[in-house]
Amino acid sequence: MEVNDKLAVVTGAGNGIGAALVRRFHAEGARTLVVADIDGGAARAVADEVGGIAVEADLSTEAGNREMVETALALGPIDLLCCNAGIAVNGGVEASDEDWQRSWDINVMAHVWAVRAALPAMLERGEGHILTTASAAGLLSNIGTAPYSVTKHAAVALAEWLSITHGEDGIGVSCLCPQGVRTNMLFPDGADEDDPALASVRAQGVLEPEDVAQAVVEGLAEDRFLILPHPEVQGYVQARATDREGWLAAMRRLQARIRG
Ligand SMILES: NC(=O)c1ccc[n+]([C@@H]2O[C@H](COP(=O)([O-])OP(=O)(O)OC[C@H]3O[C@@H](n4cnc5c(N)ncnc54)[C@H](O)[C@@H]3O)[C@@H](O)[C@H]2O)c1
Repeated sequence: MEVNDKLAVVTGAGNGIGAALVRRFHAEGARTLVVADIDGGAARAVADEVGGIAVEADLSTEAGNREMVETALALGPIDLLCCNAGIAVNGGVEASDEDWQRSWDINVMAHVWAVRAALPAMLERGEGHILTTASAAGLLSNIGTAPYSVTKHAAVALAEWLSITHGEDGIGVSCLCPQGVRTNMLFPDGADEDDPALASVRAQGVLEPEDVAQAVVEGLAEDRFLILPHPEVQGYVQARATDREGWLAAMRRLQARIRG
């Protein structure tokens, strides 16, 4: 799909990748942009830049997603729904249940709830596109963050399921899976870019949010399912699929280097 003259909704759009998507869609000629974020001030600032509509909502709830979609539908049919808001919490199985639940709600259920609200009108029209932001962590794994890796795998699975189930109904589905991107998530305020914990991310090459927006516009234009701003991820995915033992051994070596 081309974004020109379209109505697009972007979640987590007050900062980072979501804000870059909104700015890029505006530059591409989007007609109406709905900028949703739990941080109302950030959403309003981005919406003001592009003449869009800000929605302050907690998208880790069904009510927040419904309110966002209803606001958008009052402006016109939704052409492009971008479920992008997400969080990353560190830790393994020892992470608190609350952290696991928070991760599940925003990284997975937010996609379920937004699509649940937006899909009926798309199906009625026989058109619409859903873009979900998962992560390369949803195709591979992420050192040090089990709740993130697990919920991002679920986000990829949901996007695949939507594509399989509704692809023939005129609904396009894309799944964005970047590695490191220079945003607050990766470098929270005051984060030291030399922090050894970020060594694996730096080794991957950190992209700017604008690079990700470029990859998204190109991927949408080709109606591509998997959007990989770091193209090398495709090779890692193939290596994991064809040699799981070898891939796991390499990941364990990476884990050991980071620990060391
Ligand atoms: N930065 C990276 O390296 C990276 C890599 C792969 C995938 N991603 C994914 O990209 C997406 C965007 O992340 P980002 O890097 O731009 O991070 P970010 O922290 O800069 O932006 C995330 C935005 O989501 C919003 N948000 C968080 N919880 C919310 C909630 N409950 N309701 C509404 N809004 C909420 C935040 O307020 C923030 O504006 C996430 O899904 C993230 O997992 C990021």
